[in-house]
Amino acid sequence: MNRPVHIDIDRLQGEIDALASISENSPPVVTRVLFSQADLQARAYVKHLCQEAGLTLREDGAGNLFARWPGADLNLPPVATGSHIDAIPNAGRYDGVVGVLGAIEACRALKRGGFQPRHAIELITFTAEEPTRFGIGCLGSRLLAGTLPLEKAAALRDPEGRSLEELRVAAGLGAHDLRQVRLAPQSYAAFVELHIEQGPLLELEKVPIGVVEKIAAPSTLRLELTGVGGHAGAMLMPERHDALLAGAEIALAVEQAALASGSSDSVGTTGVFRIEPGAVNSVPCRAWVEIDFRDTQLSTRDAALKRIEDSAAAICKRRGVALRLERLNADAPAACDPHLVQTVLDVCGELRLAAKKMISRAYHDSLFMAQVCPTTMIFIPCRGGVSHRPDEYSSPAQIRNGVEVLALTLARLAGAGKE
Ligand code: GLV
Ligand code: MN
Ligand code: MN
Repeated sequence: MNRPVHIDIDRLQGEIDALASISENSPPVVTRVLFSQADLQARAYVKHLCQEAGLTLREDGAGNLFARWPGADLNLPPVATGSHIDAIPNAGRYDGVVGVLGAIEACRALKRGGFQPRHAIELITFTAEEPTRFGIGCLGSRLLAGTLPLEKAAALRDPEGRSLEELRVAAGLGAHDLRQVRLAPQSYAAFVELHIEQGPLLELEKVPIGVVEKIAAPSTLRLELTGVGGHAGAMLMPERHDALLAGAEIALAVEQAALASGSSDSVGTTGVFRIEPGAVNSVPCRAWVEIDFRDTQLSTRDAALKRIEDSAAAICKRRGVALRLERLNADAPAACDPHLVQTVLDVCGELRLAAKKMISRAYHDSLFMAQVCPTTMIFIPCRGGVSHRPDEYSSPAQIRNGVEVLALTLARLAGAGKE
């Protein structure tokens, strides 16, 4: 298909804004934690848009949503695209959403242009790309790729102790079986995810499109620290086994592990820190800490994880605090498919849009889709590289570029069935 597509950016921007208003917080803050009321309402909105666009819907036991534009040749595996609509606490409106609503507009634009695909085109809205509820990111795509064993999924608990099974049944997914979520081999011909960059490079270099060649290796640790609580006035300092202070020292060790790894790609964050009982005149007896550590090289990431785990053990021993440490995930980096990367670059060339190959430091469902089929990502700039904040922003023109590149890439990969 050689005709350029016409993207209705006003309609798409209106839909992005409408989705942003479905939030657990007041505007401009977007919070949509897995299976919250806001998440369920947002899913309903996306289903409505997909139906309106003439796509055929299916949902699996994990809540992954599939919206298919059937191809002319039913024997061919679909070409897939998609992203997520859940949002971490205090997020913005573009992370994930551009890849879902943008894909719907890409399909609508191709349809308006009279295109009929030979391979089906399928939009996947993945469940819980964000780790907020269960501590582990990319829940839906991990299950699709078969990377998260079902026993491990069954053991997941949220901070209130609720299980994935309990929550998915409450969300109306009880009729679907979690055991059937894993994709069969060759389910898809390709996967291409459109996303905001979540970093500053495209904006700094004034390049409108990034094409992802590699996704960095993420990992998450969850620690439960049990010390001894007591009266803040009466308990003398030598007697203390303060769980918060052990956690605080561990957080500093995470920072050290990143700074001393020898790689400028190492990033370590202690993003969750809860204490009990949480009273100003009481020594903290328990702390729950979650640590995110990433690097583009697996060996560097793994060495840093080991260093953090050894430090945590030594700190807790010295402070007389009991430590329970769990590696929630420690994933390998993903290499994108060179042929797909070239296809996206060719489309950018055709549209006269400058493009650069990039590494994604953020993780995405593409990390796991890369285990299922050839995968790449299309990045667009975001202001100041800001993400996971309410002031996250990409302009309508930047989004239109990304959706146009996505639409033409999908059309190339799916091939024309009939005009
Ligand atoms: C995704 O949200 C990430 O944390 O990289
Ligand atoms: Mn995110
Ligand atoms: Mn995202």
